[in-house]
Amino acid sequence: MSVQGSSRVITTHRLFEMKQQGEKIAMLTAYDYTMACIIDAAGIDIVLVGDSASNVMAGHETTLPMTLDQMIYHAQSVARAAQNPLIVVDLPFGSYQGNSKEALHSAIRIMKESSADAVKLEGGKEIIESVNRILSAGIPIMGHLGLMPQSIHKYGTYSVRAKEEAEVEKLLEDAHMLEKAGCFALVLEKIPAQLGTRVAKELKIPVIGIGAGNGVDGQVLVSHDMLGLNNTFSPRFLRRYANLYDEMLKAFNNYVADVKSGNFPSENEQY
Ligand code: KIV
Repeated sequence: MSVQGSSRVITTHRLFEMKQQGEKIAMLTAYDYTMACIIDAAGIDIVLVGDSASNVMAGHETTLPMTLDQMIYHAQSVARAAQNPLIVVDLPFGSYQGNSKEALHSAIRIMKESSADAVKLEGGKEIIESVNRILSAGIPIMGHLGLMPQSIHKYGTYSVRAKEEAEVEKLLEDAHMLEKAGCFALVLEKIPAQLGTRVAKELKIPVIGIGAGNGVDGQVLVSHDMLGLNNTFSPRFLRRYANLYDEMLKAFNNYVADVKSGNFPSENEQY
């Protein structure tokens, strides 16, 4: 089903202005309608329909199993909710690498079928043909460098990236290449704070960090992680703003106990 295009309040141009004016950009992930409604009400600037849905929604160990159809389903649910923020959708693993025509086809499907505003791709030089082709169709792209979870099997670990000089040079070259190609923003994941600051200073487009320090132009976190829905994932960059795992467990425990004891429903909770 195709959805009519939207005109959300936050645009790629507005994000560019925010960087110029030194106004920090707040971004969070969402994968479903209810969460996106709450995040929108909080005044978020960008909602990312991330392929981290593979981990937090589907329970996979990596983001690789996510399909284009699954991303479109999540994006449609979020787009129905979000009026204000820019909606960015991850192109999933296998939908854009190595074949720029397929990349364009994948990006067009996301834009047509979900009513999102932009797509996000992981990588630099190796995917530049796909980046150029998607941009030539007028589809805004957010780049993603540093730790790139779709390449986990290449690196073998989720540890901090770009600690060695060669990787630093490659990241800087890729960042400039993505900006020159026309990407409207860049995510930097899990790199030294000093490098994050340097990239944000060198680029004109907004740089959004996740574990990239405080010298970048904005921050992104996975909503499920910052809400404390998962009590086992604790990287250093993660600040928990709630402890919903404990809250929800308490509520579920109380419900089970009330049903078992006959305490629910009460007189007032029946017809
Ligand atoms: O998929 C995702 O949630 C992401 C963020 C970690 C930036 O790409």
